[in-house]
Amino acid sequence: MPVPKAELHLHIEGTLEPELAFELAARNGLALPWAGTEALREAYRFEDLQSFLDLYYALMAVLRTERDFEDLADAYLARAAAQGVRHAEIFFDPQAHLARGVPLDTVVDGLWRALGRSEERHGVSTRLIMCFLRDEPAASALATLEAARPHLDRITGVGLDSAEAGHPPSTFREVYEAAAALGLRRVAHAGEEGPPEYITEALDVLGVERVDHGLRCVEDPALVARLVRERVPLTLCPLSNVRLRAVDTLADHPLPAMLDAGLMCTVNSDDPAYFGGYVGDTFDAVAETLGLGPERLRDLARNSFLAAFLDDDEERRARYLAEVETYAFD
Ligand code: ADE
Ligand code: ZN
Repeated sequence: MPVPKAELHLHIEGTLEPELAFELAARNGLALPWAGTEALREAYRFEDLQSFLDLYYALMAVLRTERDFEDLADAYLARAAAQGVRHAEIFFDPQAHLARGVPLDTVVDGLWRALGRSEERHGVSTRLIMCFLRDEPAASALATLEAARPHLDRITGVGLDSAEAGHPPSTFREVYEAAAALGLRRVAHAGEEGPPEYITEALDVLGVERVDHGLRCVEDPALVARLVRERVPLTLCPLSNVRLRAVDTLADHPLPAMLDAGLMCTVNSDDPAYFGGYVGDTFDAVAETLGLGPERLRDLARNSFLAAFLDDDEERRARYLAEVETYAFD
């Protein structure tokens, strides 16, 4: 059995495997522009974040009904459980669905049908994090937050994703202030393709409690020192970084140096259907390619639970952490 872990950076739309995409397309009477699953997989050769996002948003067209979102989340949770995930904090992109005429109720109710029975069915506890698209105006994000009010009992926090370059966190100051006032936890993608300054802005202007990716902090030693001092969790996604060309190869990934520097790193899968692996696969890949031994892997697993939004259930966090400490790596 793989080491117990929490997944903290996972876009549910990024778990849409080609097989399920074709099944949902057929169920909804939609034609896809690829001949089949193999042809679709052939398209998974990305130049950068934008070239991935173009396909990611296009393939979402197959997600139309509550049942589609339920099936998507249920398939993810089954795979995650098999890879040692005990707790998953799941992102979703409501604006991408609203733009296609799929209401927020359909998305949240559908996801919740799977998340609500996840512990019983898969042994995985869950949280839901609603992301705003940073390449859409702040007013749209604010309207989305407003529309989400009836669902806030099921939404733990807000995030910020999509095309990063040229879309600084500070644009979303007001939205994050409103989210904080509603008692929502705050995270944001920063320093994936954008500069280290975006990480600082996410912390200082948006008040984020974790930084999603945060990879480019390594370019700024003063920022690294701050992140270490303040114990800011980074939700790194090494396989994503390779596929989106943030690093040349996995062997070039700075994860070992970041751990050595004392950064609170976690490893996650981002969009596993597109990037070649779920979070257990990611642990295996970094162990093998970056030479991380059992104690480093234990650190990553421990960090994932320490950084999880489990403040309302510290007993559960303690249980998960105890599992990590007693896990025997072979
Ligand atoms: N949306 C889905 N995956 C993403 C990523 N890696 N970066 C930004 N936005 C995303
Ligand atoms: Zn992401």
